[in-house]
Amino acid sequence: MSRHRVSLKVNGRDYERQVEARLLLSDFLRHELDLTGTHVGCEHGVCGACTVLLDGEPVRSCLLLAVQADGRELQTVEGLAAGPDELHPLQEAFREAHGLQCGFCTAGILMTLVPFLEEHPDPGEEEIRHALSGNLCRCTGYQHIVDAVRLAAERRQAGG
Ligand code: FES
Ligand code: FES
Repeated sequence: MSRHRVSLKVNGRDYERQVEARLLLSDFLRHELDLTGTHVGCEHGVCGACTVLLDGEPVRSCLLLAVQADGRELQTVEGLAAGPDELHPLQEAFREAHGLQCGFCTAGILMTLVPFLEEHPDPGEEEIRHALSGNLCRCTGYQHIVDAVRLAAERRQAGG
């Protein structure tokens, strides 16, 4: 079976691998790079669990092939925090406001919300719910996620 070279940057680090043309980007991240923080739920673009940033834009990694990420820059949930003993401010807000229960959806939700907060520094509840509309969570009922986003936004505005 023919293989193709994929060379890309993930969380600031360069990687190069030979992969089959059909390999999904989500499987590439999890199985080739061991970045298992990106979760896979539905595998057909519905649940949002596999969301990562591709050149800064949220994408569903189960709907892309690894070869399509050649030459591009990715960020996964592993790249959010500044260090191994730290949480990103949004992760911290999720922890404090109980924005997660089982956590299966959380990586995808964080990767959706980080660029959202960049573009909407003071989002209202409706905007937050709209931003979350492509991410399924079976545990929280979403209210605590909305609370966590508000908390993160307030702290960000206060410079904390
Ligand atoms: S696993 Fe990709 S959207 Fe559900
Ligand atoms: S916290 Fe369990 S699916 Fe969202």
